[in-house]
Amino acid sequence: MSLFRKKNIEAMLQVSEHDGLRKVLGPLDLVLMGIGAIVGTGIFVLTGTGALTAGPALTVSFVIAAMACGFAALCYAEFASAIPVSGSIYTYSYATLGEIVAWMIGWDLLLEYGLATSAVSVGWSGYFQSLIAGFGVKLPAALTAAPGAVPGVETVVNLPAVLIMLAITWVVSYGVRESTRLNNVMVAIKVAVVLLFIAVGIWHVEPANWQPFAPFGFTGIFNAAALVFFAFIGFDAVTSAAEEVRNPRRDLPIGIIGSLAVCTLLYVIVAAIMTGIVPFAKFEGVDHPVSLALQYAGQNWVAGFVDLGAILGMTTVILVMTYGQTRIIFAMSRDGLLPEKLSEVHPVHATPFVATWAVGIVFATIAGFVPLNVLAELINIGTLAAFTLISIATLVLRRTQPDLPRAFRCPGVPVVPLLAVAFCVFLMLHLQMLTWIAFIVWLLLGMAIYFLYSRRNAVLHNHGGDAQG
Ligand code: ALA
Repeated sequence: MSLFRKKNIEAMLQVSEHDGLRKVLGPLDLVLMGIGAIVGTGIFVLTGTGALTAGPALTVSFVIAAMACGFAALCYAEFASAIPVSGSIYTYSYATLGEIVAWMIGWDLLLEYGLATSAVSVGWSGYFQSLIAGFGVKLPAALTAAPGAVPGVETVVNLPAVLIMLAITWVVSYGVRESTRLNNVMVAIKVAVVLLFIAVGIWHVEPANWQPFAPFGFTGIFNAAALVFFAFIGFDAVTSAAEEVRNPRRDLPIGIIGSLAVCTLLYVIVAAIMTGIVPFAKFEGVDHPVSLALQYAGQNWVAGFVDLGAILGMTTVILVMTYGQTRIIFAMSRDGLLPEKLSEVHPVHATPFVATWAVGIVFATIAGFVPLNVLAELINIGTLAAFTLISIATLVLRRTQPDLPRAFRCPGVPVVPLLAVAFCVFLMLHLQMLTWIAFIVWLLLGMAIYFLYSRRNAVLHNHGGDAQG
């Protein structure tokens, strides 16, 4: 049964008290961190494809995706308030479902956060290049994209994507206080830009564009929901900050649920306005649908601001995702499942320095050399799997540790966690076969590493097996 050995929750809470990470974050930092991770490529880039898939009913797709996230967020919040320890769902699974499940979910999160940073860097690079083109600056074609990303063009590396990844790695390795300060400023700007879009766009809506409302029926709505789910990914990154929060039991649920609620509201309004201004078929082949809507309405100046906001928006997504990933690696390494070096804390910056640069270099390389536009679905499936698991883990913890203090309790147990599972699995079933195959290959690779390395090096292994508390 040692595959399912579990960590003792009391011991985990004690270790986290003395881990060297600074406890400096408050509730507003967390809500902003959540919005920082959430609003990005999903709303600024993928809504075009979403509108083509669902028509004006894209708003309904957003609501469906938000419900899947909302039910899962309530489960996340309960866990985060009960076990405020670094590592997010990886750590929660280690305490409830056992080591092998925790490893697999940690491995799955590496895929989610890692590829998300690379994919969003590529989206960032696209917007950045279009912005500087506005000032007459053009990069040599070879440096604009990964090899094979643009049919018929000789490209070698996506240089802006590599540079933004490395710049952000530097910020994250420098310190959490500095990272969140920068994040807060950029989040304020990107939310202002979204509000500007709403305030200007609403006057240009032609209700006739909302007819027919759902030209592709429920299939279109559900397929679009499975895609724009990407737009919500990130609120879970808030939980990875647990050990750097002053009052985690109260503030983590606020951060998770608050950021998700704000973003859902913004998304539904933006989707309604976009499809109200532009007949949805015009989004074919467009990678800047939000600013396109404003150009369509003749608001070119405002469109320029939206482009700028999109660039900042994507910058914060990369920032928070990179941050979240390093904290998960930190936790996995501290448990012995990954090499020890990855949980060393820098003596001056108090950040997991080696882990941060390792992550930065690997995913900067992927962003530079791999065409990633098709990978949004792969990121979605990984995240949906994680959400399914956290919901199951919530039910397990209620049964195995009914008396564990929980500052926040998920309402409507077991219905809400079961609804989360149902919604997530339903969305997963609307993803392409290829996505499923790639996901399964990734999981098998993870399984191999677990049996060849992690199982034997686990701290629990060296302490003589099952440490269930
Ligand atoms: N939710 C993040 C985005 O849309 C991943 O960019």
